[in-house]
Amino acid sequence: MGYINIVNIDDFKQAVGKFPTGVCVIATNYQDQLFGFTANSFVSVSLEPALISFYLDKKSYSLQAFYQADYFTVNILSNDQTDISNHFARSLKDKFQGISYQLNEHDTPLLDGSISALECEKYNHMDCGDHVLFVGQVQKVKVDNTKHPLVYYGKKYRELT
Ligand SMILES: Cc1cc2nc3c(=O)[nH]c(=O)nc-3n(C[C@H](O)[C@H](O)[C@H](O)COP(=O)(O)O)c2cc1C
Repeated sequence: MGYINIVNIDDFKQAVGKFPTGVCVIATNYQDQLFGFTANSFVSVSLEPALISFYLDKKSYSLQAFYQADYFTVNILSNDQTDISNHFARSLKDKFQGISYQLNEHDTPLLDGSISALECEKYNHMDCGDHVLFVGQVQKVKVDNTKHPLVYYGKKYRELT
């Protein structure tokens, strides 16, 4: 069954594009292979339990890995990580080659230099049009209060001043 849009897609993109966001790299490990992609659809959902969510395009290379894996990390990028954001926004096979990261107890990567990181266990996922909504329960967090976040607005990276 096809979907019928009740708004014009360009108008829709323009309207939602007026919402500035942060930028993160969401990463996982599936069958000893590391996967990660740049996302701005990250949002905190619930405090008790501590839940967060993100949306992944069904055309993404990493979709199957996120479906299958039980754990993932959210690495919120700082304003000196635009190169990391661009790198993880490309559909490459081994994106972690040449990238500085540590593995946590679930062998899930935590990127060095992020402004904060959340280690999550998969809580749920749901089909949402051309994307899949993933919800995670946060198990551990790490914050660097000395850094400033990378901001995305109007198809450009911005800095908070
Ligand atoms: C700032 C920014 C935000 C993005 N946010 C998302 C997002 O929330 N969900 C998504 O599916 N793709 C998002 N993308 C695109 C993915 O990063 C890109 O399609 C990536 O290649 C997917 O990786 P994969 O194909 O290896 O899974 C974003 C890209 C940029 C530059």
